[in-house]
Amino acid sequence: MAKREFSESTDRIVATEPVEVRRYATHTRINHWFTAALIVLLILSGFALFWPPLFFLTGLFGGGQNARFLHPIFGVVACFSFLLLFLQLWKLNIMRREDLVWARNIRELLDGQEENLPELGKYNLGQKFVFWGMFWLLLAMVISGVMIWQQFFPDLVSIPVRRWAVLVHSISAVLSVLIIIVHVYAAIWTRGTISAMTRGTVTGGWAWRHHRKWLREVARRQDTPPAE
Ligand code: HEM
Repeated sequence: MAKREFSESTDRIVATEPVEVRRYATHTRINHWFTAALIVLLILSGFALFWPPLFFLTGLFGGGQNARFLHPIFGVVACFSFLLLFLQLWKLNIMRREDLVWARNIRELLDGQEENLPELGKYNLGQKFVFWGMFWLLLAMVISGVMIWQQFFPDLVSIPVRRWAVLVHSISAVLSVLIIIVHVYAAIWTRGTISAMTRGTVTGGWAWRHHRKWLREVARRQDTPPAE
């Protein structure tokens, strides 16, 4: 069995014309979009409760009381859903030496000279930043969220601790919205990326240009005859 360091076991090159590379299995895509949908619901219900001018958004959930009841439930489900995504992808998001060289020379990318940057595995440093950023912020939000969930945990922490928890919860929420904006912008800005999460495939050219080490590994694995 060929060594697998930069790819998932389901990644493979499909001999179509032009060549396509399978980047996400169906279950991973469903997992991603389910998480994304829940996070949108979390943002809408959370911001409706956070800032009075946005209170009208509670109308989407059937009023203030419903929004207040549903928001933490969306949060817990979103965390479990993200956890499933996390378990599939964490190894491929570990920082590597080439990520630092890539980040130091990021100008080349902006100038359209990606050829001069090191070859990368499945993810670049920006994607890894989104991954770990969302991981730590969701963790902070779920812990602080349980502390302020008075309906089910009224006496879990003292009032001063609860005030700190509200602050941590709000700051983490604002930061995660910023990260999601960067994530969506990067997915649109890097042409050909969206199909990775919609159809599950990217073109061979996209893989060669942005994640060559990943592509090389997938190709090498397919070259290796199956074990006897
Ligand atoms: C709602 C709009 C969203 C769009 C259009 C979008 C789009 C995408 C696309 C196209 C990819 C594939 C990138 C690639 O393989 O190179 C991706 C990956 C990913 N997305 Fe999203 N996404 C959205 C929301 C979210 C949200 C809310 C989260 C956070 C929980 C999220 C977490 C991830 C993760 C963890 C990956 C794998 C990348 C990695 O592990 O570094 N996405 N997304």
